[in-house]
Amino acid sequence: MIYRVALLFSGLTILLAACSREPEVSATPPEEGVEKEATWTMLAPEDAIDPFTYANYNEVRVTNVDLDLKVSFDEKTLTGAAEIDFERLNPEAAILVLDANDLAISNVEAFSNSDWVETAYTMGEDDPVLGSRLEISLPNGAKKVRIAYGTSPDAEGLQWLSPEQTAGKTHPFMFSQFQPMLARSMAPLQDTPAVRMTYSAHIKTPPALIALMSARQDQSGNRDGDYTFKMSQPIPSYLLAIVVGDFGFKAINDHIGVYAEDYILSASAAEFADTPAMEEANAALYGPYRWGRYDMIVLPPSFPFGGMENPRLSFLTPTLIAGDKSLTNVVAHELAHSWSGNLVTNATWRDAWLNEGFTSYVENRVMEALYGESRAVMERALDLETLKRAIAEADRPELTALKMPADLAHPDDAFSQVSYAGGMFFLKFLEERFGREVFDPFIKGYFDHFAFQSITTEDFLAYFEDNLWTDHPDAVTKAEIDAWVFEPGLPDTVQNPQSDAFDKVTAQQSAWLGGGDLAGIETAAWTTHEWLHFINTLPSDLSLDDFTALDGLFSLSTSQNAEIAFAWYMKAIAAGYEPALDPLDAFLMRVGRGKFIYRLYQRLVDQDKREWAEAVYERARPGYHPIAQRRIDAIFAE
Ligand code: BES
Ligand code: ZN
Repeated sequence: MIYRVALLFSGLTILLAACSREPEVSATPPEEGVEKEATWTMLAPEDAIDPFTYANYNEVRVTNVDLDLKVSFDEKTLTGAAEIDFERLNPEAAILVLDANDLAISNVEAFSNSDWVETAYTMGEDDPVLGSRLEISLPNGAKKVRIAYGTSPDAEGLQWLSPEQTAGKTHPFMFSQFQPMLARSMAPLQDTPAVRMTYSAHIKTPPALIALMSARQDQSGNRDGDYTFKMSQPIPSYLLAIVVGDFGFKAINDHIGVYAEDYILSASAAEFADTPAMEEANAALYGPYRWGRYDMIVLPPSFPFGGMENPRLSFLTPTLIAGDKSLTNVVAHELAHSWSGNLVTNATWRDAWLNEGFTSYVENRVMEALYGESRAVMERALDLETLKRAIAEADRPELTALKMPADLAHPDDAFSQVSYAGGMFFLKFLEERFGREVFDPFIKGYFDHFAFQSITTEDFLAYFEDNLWTDHPDAVTKAEIDAWVFEPGLPDTVQNPQSDAFDKVTAQQSAWLGGGDLAGIETAAWTTHEWLHFINTLPSDLSLDDFTALDGLFSLSTSQNAEIAFAWYMKAIAAGYEPALDPLDAFLMRVGRGKFIYRLYQRLVDQDKREWAEAVYERARPGYHPIAQRRIDAIFAE
């Protein structure tokens, strides 16, 4: 048996305690000197440190940043200054180490003895993953520094779109995407989820444009090119966000609304009309929404994700606008991050499942509350299939347990379906064993207890043990928990989502494949989910005649639902069904969402369509986000 308390609470140095976990976090700390047996060992200090930051955040910790930036579309830069407040955890600390990526620093000052004085700094070499180490000398007593700098036109966290690349065609557009570690390409920061800070910003744009950030906008919202923002709750750096462009706004209720380019504004407001009900369902389960307003912005199609949970302002892909609310689980997901991820944050990317697994679980609970068990089960069943595939395709077994390995090559590797669906199914397993009557209040208490903190998997386990398991020791065994959290592969305790709707689809599909009439399949009442199940389970030896018949009857190659079109193209490429190629070309030119395009290009390359794919990519690449360009370049470099 292992004792977790001795190390943590026996008065070691501030440094050690700060290294091992967030200083404020206390999973019911026992009295000093009292040794309480715990099932799981807390992390050794060196294992709790985020390896993807240069920051010396256990010595000097950033607490607030004030940005004063001018947005230049001609230069594709942000220029100005970042003023950074910090506290010294180690009173002797004489340097502040920040992360930077492609930033041009012109001058650094420190505020010391009530004056700004220039101070020395060094910028380290550029590492392709980490960027550069910015080390700033701290004069005695200095409490803040001011860094004058500019971003690079190639900053990986920002995409600059020309007017032609927007729907309106008149104004340019710029948006950020910082998770997991690209905030450092926008400002010098301690760019790790372990550090939380407040921020404010003064942003100057061309007068015709609007700027929004993941923060409260301070003034009336006049379109005058001069905007100020304040985020007064401490957030990790990856939740900083900025968008500048020409878009409209439509209110959904008094504190929820949507921004989008005009062509899609009404459609977006209609598609997301259930967001208030989602917020209510989420709050009823897990406590109040703590961020004031909740707005969404529908970005240009090059946005590389389905959604990004920037606080107060989720970023969304236009591919969600299907016309029938069938893809709004992504909104439920980004909104759910307001609890899991934004309120309680993974301290390192090794613990990404605390963000994404919890969020996928909450998302599914909210979908169930709004639309019923049948839809929630279908969504879980689709997720389970993708989870199994992710486990089968994992580069190494260590990437298939929830707690990611210490030697993760890149934080992106932590964001597979293992963290998402794996985390959700783990929580489903716990929910089933403990029962919702005790599990729901437990999760609510967890969000409350760790609110505005960054924590590790081990912190979760300690809290789970003290606040749930101890009272219900027979509900689960340690071996069952360990299989989910620390051991590779899919545990045999995974719940099997039983969908009657999918069973009916399968039965009809079998009847057709067994010689029945295709037109006899009753598809009229199928939802997107049933279509996805039908397409995903088409047999790999389906004849080209059958592809032609399906396409003829259901126009799948030109489906306006991006999920359905994607699922169909994946099958069509594998089968060599050529009539899908022109519509696929158009899809790849139009859509920049990574979840679709990475897998489509990969499949094309795997299926001897490299030349065709390369030709499309050559045309499409300039419109893709830098993050997507990097990923797809790697596919063609293989
Ligand atoms: N936080 C993620 C997006 C993300 C993850 C960006 C890792 C950068 C690195 C966001 O909440 C998300 O998970 N989006 C999903 C949608 C969700 C319903 C699975 C997406 O983009 O598809
Ligand atoms: Zn997410």
